[in-house]
Amino acid sequence: MKKGRIILDRDYRVAETDPRIFGSFIEHLGRAVYEGIYQPGNRFADENGFRRDTMELIRELNVPIVRYPGGNFVSNYNWEDGVGPRENRPARLDLAWRTMEPNTFGLDEFMDWCRAANTAPMMAVNLGTRGAEQARDIIEYCNIEKGSKFSDLRRRYGHEKPHDIRLWCLGNEMDGPWQMGAKTATEYGRLAEETAKIMRGVDPTIELVACGSCGVGMKTFGTWDATVLGHCYDYVDYLSMHQYFDLSQNADAADFLANTLSMDAFISSVASICDYVKAVKHSKKTIHISFDEWNVWYHSKAADAAREPWCLAPPLLEDIYNFMDALLVGGMLITLLKHADRVKIACLAQLVNVIAPIMTSDTGAWRQTIYWPYLHASRYGRGTVLQTLVESPKYDSRNYTDVPYLDAVAVMDENRVTIFALNRDLDEDMEITCDLRQFDGYHVARHMGLSHDDLEAVNTEANPNNVAPTDDGNAAFRDGILTAVLGKKSWNVMVLEK
Ligand code: AHR
Repeated sequence: MKKGRIILDRDYRVAETDPRIFGSFIEHLGRAVYEGIYQPGNRFADENGFRRDTMELIRELNVPIVRYPGGNFVSNYNWEDGVGPRENRPARLDLAWRTMEPNTFGLDEFMDWCRAANTAPMMAVNLGTRGAEQARDIIEYCNIEKGSKFSDLRRRYGHEKPHDIRLWCLGNEMDGPWQMGAKTATEYGRLAEETAKIMRGVDPTIELVACGSCGVGMKTFGTWDATVLGHCYDYVDYLSMHQYFDLSQNADAADFLANTLSMDAFISSVASICDYVKAVKHSKKTIHISFDEWNVWYHSKAADAAREPWCLAPPLLEDIYNFMDALLVGGMLITLLKHADRVKIACLAQLVNVIAPIMTSDTGAWRQTIYWPYLHASRYGRGTVLQTLVESPKYDSRNYTDVPYLDAVAVMDENRVTIFALNRDLDEDMEITCDLRQFDGYHVARHMGLSHDDLEAVNTEANPNNVAPTDDGNAAFRDGILTAVLGKKSWNVMVLEK
């Protein structure tokens, strides 16, 4: 059996986790909004048309923020179409996903839904087909109490109190050629700077996210980020990053599970670019990272390419995730936690039906495989992230060299230390040890995880618990040493409590 070692010191800390790294994303795309969270007339719908079954699962996940309304969708969205009496709202062509947008769910419904789901909004403004003026109007509608055109409009539409939205995205993926109204770095950098200035003019207390390059593989990556920040550094708080993994880019499962090495390097590169601009500007301010789209995405791409245009809520991006995807998602969560000093916001993209941990049909809602590592991280990953050294045998794959079979991170809070660990070895269990003499008086409260014989196992409405967590791991804590045997291809959450 292979052996691994985890080395921790309670005084060697990365940072406190910002709970917003357990955020997610709802876009007007496919069945995310319509049939996902909103379906008047459905037997699970409440008096507002919100799906109660979906909401229950979202509450279980304890999702702190939800990004909305896109994504690509936002770059051709007129937010005014989605407010006011429903009978006056126009149906519009959404050019991003080539579907029909009925606008029966909009900004005010989203805010009501956020309150009911116990989450907070991360609102995006359209900097594709629109600009600073509409961004000024929407923030006035949302954050000003009364006495002005848009704040009074909100009150007239039934929301007397301001929505008080704290966090705003300045557009979405603006260097992507697929984006409606895509821009060059200079065009976007200037627009982001001026829009930020104007939005802060309306509400100086908000936080703003500028678009980083939409992918590490983009030709624009790097120079885009430096140029954009060169313009708007003083007015924004975060730079965005997006990353999805697609099995067709990997040789095999071992190579696929190694993808977190790329995510880790991507975060380090973006942090370096932010710090380069900081140095050039002689600034004291640090720009943090909003990793506001991350996930696995490949199962649905072929089917989506063949869809008819202009349908209402067609099934799009409905990846059915398997056990292997859940392992990679666990690894991605470990990677985000390891960078808790720089990554302050992250959104699993997305939340319901569209590349999502939660699926719905007319007859129910169920948890996909990736739901489980996300739940574990959200529940046990809040606290102080410890610098976590891992000694592990390594392997090479097509895209990566020196991939440790074992990946791990530890998070400590007042009476608890949790170790998240991924055993990437597809064939062998691994015996691990961790010297925890500094945690005298603690005991193993739980050793949960995910394991399955079949990497391709999935959950369906008929068989929703095919891939479900176990709570019978063998972690033991004796004489200050934690020992455990981590099953081959397994996700592990070892919780020690006082
Ligand atoms: O999350 C799906 C899409 O992926 C988003 O709309 C876009 O921002 C990204 O390309």
